[in-house]
Order: sequence, then structure tokens, then C-alpha cells
Amino acid sequence: MSNDTIAIASDHGAVTLKQHLVAFLEAKGLKVLDLGTNGTESVDYPEYGYAMAQAIKDGKASRGILMCGSGIGISIAANRFPEIRAALVTDVTCARLAREHNNANVLCMGGRMIGPDLAEECVDTFLNTAFDQGERHLRRVAMLSNPPG
Ligand code: RB5
Repeated sequence: MSNDTIAIASDHGAVTLKQHLVAFLEAKGLKVLDLGTNGTESVDYPEYGYAMAQAIKDGKASRGILMCGSGIGISIAANRFPEIRAALVTDVTCARLAREHNNANVLCMGGRMIGPDLAEECVDTFLNTAFDQGERHLRRVAMLSNPPG
């Protein structure tokens, strides 16, 4: 289990931001698992959301960063897996609360919605904020893995 590894993936709508963040993470000495895409050719965002979910399920990374143009489609894709708590964020407060209240294991952003400096701040916050293990948060997060039906 590579607990230090951060997986990252995007579709073509956020490939520039992904490349920026790969360099940002590597400059910090973090291990990065880049799941693509690596070009501007149009691709299907569910493929990358599912690849992220599988990498986390398989223990290849402890946390992930997912991006598409809006961040919406790829977050929906990842959240179809009960092991994934993917949070679409637009600011640092959302990134902090995603960790403190939701124990999010995947940070989602929109490459057409957020600039590189703010994205870096969101990533730093996501990686450096602990889950607030209060009873109510533990209970609610456990419920997310066990939807009714
Ligand atoms: C691709 O054009 C775009 O639809 C995708 O990146 C994303 O925004 C979907 O939610």
C-alpha cells in the first residue's frame, strides 16, 4: 500500500491544470501516480474517474485529485464507488471542510473554473487537513459507504 502516493487524473478539459499540479506535487517530494489523460484530444471523463476509484480501491494511492472542465462529471463518476468520497471544490474553505467533515479522499476541481494558484492552495489544504473525527462526522461518513437499497 503506497499511502504517500497521490493519484491524479483529468480529461482534456483540465489537462493543463493537471500537468501544473503534477509538477507542483513532485516539487514537494510527493509520489504522484498520473492516470492521464496527457493530451488535448477529447476523451471521456468517466474513464478517468473510474480509473481513480480503482487505484484508490486497489491501494495504489491514498488520496486523489480529479479534474475535468467543470469538475462535475468526473466527480459524479468517482462517487459511484462506495469507497470514494470525491468533493468538488471551488475554494479553500470547501477543500478544508471536505476533509474535516467528509473525510474526502478525492479532491475534484474544474480546469475551466479555477486558476492554478487557487488550485495549488486547494491541494495544499486537502493534503494537510485532518478529518475531524467527531462522533457525528464518523457516523455520517460511515453512512455514505452504506446507502439504502
Ligand atoms: C468536456 O468538454 C466536459 O464536458 C468535461 O470536461 C466536464 O466538464 C464534464 O463534466
